[in-house]
Amino acid sequence: MKDSQAKATLLSNYKIPDFLINETLLKFELFETHAIVDSSLQFFRNVEGADELVLDGQDLELISLEIEGQPIPAGSYEVTESSLTILNLAKILNKDPDKFTLKCVTRIEPQNNTALECLYKSKRMFCTQCEAEGFRRITYYLDRPDVMSKFTTTIIADKASYPTLLSNGNLVASKDLDVDGQDSVRHLATWEDPFKKPSYLFALVAGNLSCKEDVFSTASEREVALKIFVEDKDVNKIDHAMDSLKRAMKWDEEVYGREYDLDTFMIVAVDDFNMGAMENKGLNIFNTSCVLANPLTTTDAAFQRVEAVVAHEYFHNWSGNRVTCRDWFQLSLKEGFTVYRDAEFSARMGSPVVKRIEDVSFLQTVQFAEDSGPMSHPVRPDSYIEISNFYTVTIYEKGAEVVRMINLLLGDAQFRKGSDLYFERHDGQAVTTEDFVCAMEDSSGEDLSLFRRWYSQAGTPRLEINGHYDESEKTYTLDVSQSCLPTPGQDKKLTFHIPLKIGLLDKLGNDMPLLQRENEELLEIDCVLNVTNENQRFVFVNVEESPIPSLLRGFSAPVTLGFQYTREELSFLAAHDNDGFNKWNAGQLLFLDVIDELLKMNSNNENLFIPSCLYTTFNCVLESALTNQECDKALLAYLLTVPSIPFLIERSDVANVSALYKVREFILESLAFRFKIELERIYFDTAESLINPLSVSGDDIGRRMLKNLCLSYLAYTDKGLSLCESQLRSSRNMTDQTAALRGILNSGDENAEVLRESVVLEFYERWKDEPLVIDNWFSLQATSSLPGGLGRVETLLSHEAFTLKNPNKVRALIGAFCGQNANNFHLPGGEGYKFLADQVLKLDAINPQIAARLLVPLTRFKKFEPSARALMLNQINRIKATNSLSKDVFEIVEKCTI
Ligand code: PHE
Ligand code: ZN
Repeated sequence: MKDSQAKATLLSNYKIPDFLINETLLKFELFETHAIVDSSLQFFRNVEGADELVLDGQDLELISLEIEGQPIPAGSYEVTESSLTILNLAKILNKDPDKFTLKCVTRIEPQNNTALECLYKSKRMFCTQCEAEGFRRITYYLDRPDVMSKFTTTIIADKASYPTLLSNGNLVASKDLDVDGQDSVRHLATWEDPFKKPSYLFALVAGNLSCKEDVFSTASEREVALKIFVEDKDVNKIDHAMDSLKRAMKWDEEVYGREYDLDTFMIVAVDDFNMGAMENKGLNIFNTSCVLANPLTTTDAAFQRVEAVVAHEYFHNWSGNRVTCRDWFQLSLKEGFTVYRDAEFSARMGSPVVKRIEDVSFLQTVQFAEDSGPMSHPVRPDSYIEISNFYTVTIYEKGAEVVRMINLLLGDAQFRKGSDLYFERHDGQAVTTEDFVCAMEDSSGEDLSLFRRWYSQAGTPRLEINGHYDESEKTYTLDVSQSCLPTPGQDKKLTFHIPLKIGLLDKLGNDMPLLQRENEELLEIDCVLNVTNENQRFVFVNVEESPIPSLLRGFSAPVTLGFQYTREELSFLAAHDNDGFNKWNAGQLLFLDVIDELLKMNSNNENLFIPSCLYTTFNCVLESALTNQECDKALLAYLLTVPSIPFLIERSDVANVSALYKVREFILESLAFRFKIELERIYFDTAESLINPLSVSGDDIGRRMLKNLCLSYLAYTDKGLSLCESQLRSSRNMTDQTAALRGILNSGDENAEVLRESVVLEFYERWKDEPLVIDNWFSLQATSSLPGGLGRVETLLSHEAFTLKNPNKVRALIGAFCGQNANNFHLPGGEGYKFLADQVLKLDAINPQIAARLLVPLTRFKKFEPSARALMLNQINRIKATNSLSKDVFEIVEKCTI
């Protein structure tokens, strides 16, 4: 790590650019050993008196540099590791530098680029990834999002190897360039993007790709050509993405009034990609894992992810591209808003309650953990060393929660008005989260001044609530207090504006009217309470009986909640709450309460036993599954799911992983034995109702979820192994095969060992030509909780299908092991931590972004017992002491050790 690189960038240092770029003309000549990039940039001055042009550029070989058609004399410009500065423009130009053209030729080596940013090769295809700061590795440029320019791009490459040449916008020219006496013919394509955009949205693809086409007619009756490009072998896996895209386009017209603006919308699938996908204008580039889907090879969860990511990237066309970010501190402006948009879209396409449960579980497990650790940062951070490290669950998921709260506070109609105003006011501009909030305020008249703190303060607020019923007065009082622990750099927190959505249930489970007395008048109030002070009291009148409160309905704010429910109350809410999310949450709270009790028994060396209320509540859900054919099967599956180990770790002050694991296994096993008959019946009934094994309708996905949840319990019983084996062998559906394989790989049954080995081999032989299925196969093995996990994963590192160069493989094996296999990762001797550190160091030389992401499980050290914590910190310090770390990894180990 060079010191010059470790400098933090600060929001408070933001300055508008001295120069802007009107037009960007690019020409790429692609060869097998290198690429030549020829750029012609039309600058104009943005700040009076500016006379020095500082361009960003990294790892570039500068071949030539001209201004207004004249070479720039050496000495009139300076090149450093990260910039090119042209000094005294007025002197060179012999006039005021109000307007001038700069031409620059650079040479780069995409073939040797393993970091998978800027221009690189994925298999035989050239592709780009420029967000956030990759463009500066292509050519010298003002590589910042508030510089928006019109791009015209010419690509020249060998025609036989790269018949498909793509860039943003519309194709305006294409021709063969025959050169006499040469057998290989090169060809050219020129693309023009009429919309101004920042460099991070630039994209280029050159490869040999098959394309599937479709058309979408917009609300204003324009025809848009939709094209998805994939490798020839994958053309049978793009229908789902295409359908999802059309649904997303329609939804954005209906719900946000947003139409697509170009004549073509293209998606390209690539194997090697650091993230899920990228919203480049008119030319989205996708990780194959987020676009390819076919029920023979793809799980239901992956189907849903494809739909969500296709929609997400499409929605960016407005929330991100037409209106973009002023600087990278505003990243959540586009990501938080777009995640909120895609979540609402997915909710509408499937079951809203289930979608909410999934999103909240993820937030509570992963984002809450980030927010209580050394990398905690606000939704709008105010400093970073490496921006790539800030593509976080806080920016994305908490950012989406913040937008969701604005929608809740304003109501749907006002929120829509606000978003209309935002898009209208800022179309074609690079703006801030503050501009977003202002548009919401201006259009609705709501005061969001306190609410803004959600953007600037990090940390998860906590609400402590007490309820009191006064029999004689017929009043119910809620005393609410809020607090938030310090986070790095923010010792004292100001109060948040927390929308607390509630209901009061009577004995029959009905919602009572919420009445408050104000100046002698009786007011029926909205169910969203505005919590804005440290301590606040809400008194409800005319409450005819002692109610059971349902608090934070729909998870109306990203906070933790303390309320002393009795187990009876939780069982009651789990059975009767009219808010589907809270119904699920009550069941989870009951599980947590029981888990806490079992942890105490365990630490006192007492025999573990399950309190009867848990059986009763669980039984209740099973009954409704057995008797009511109408109910949402996926919801039932979630109601029957015990909180995960990562979630249990996150909510502990100090987690003892082996105790958590033991207690959780005890609960699963006890429930499995107690309800074996019911679980089997649901399993077989649901299996029978699944008529078409390859259907991925919402209902069938729900059925499979419930069926496989039952299977996971039955795996603890004597019949488990044979059920798993027969499902694995008989099913053609990938979700079913995955569930069965998972059952076998986690089965403690003594007969399982031989079976395990043979099914693992068979599965590999059957699917080895499908990389995404093999990713799944790596993950299943990496997350097996049976002892010896580290050894198994170490062996798999040298498997022929594994490579550190492909991020999906790294995530599937190393990421899954360290992030989702707690009892194998947290070995008492620290071997798991050393393993992770070793992999991070190896990867850092290949792909710093992925190395930094992989490191996350070690950054959770605070959550563990002192001995484990010390071992984790040892590894962090070992990494820190290594020479030539990337900025990415450096920033994280640095923040862990402050
Ligand atoms: N902007 C992408 C998204 O839609 C994510 C991404 C960031 C992809 C950086 C690649 C690099 O969320
Ligand atoms: Zn995004």
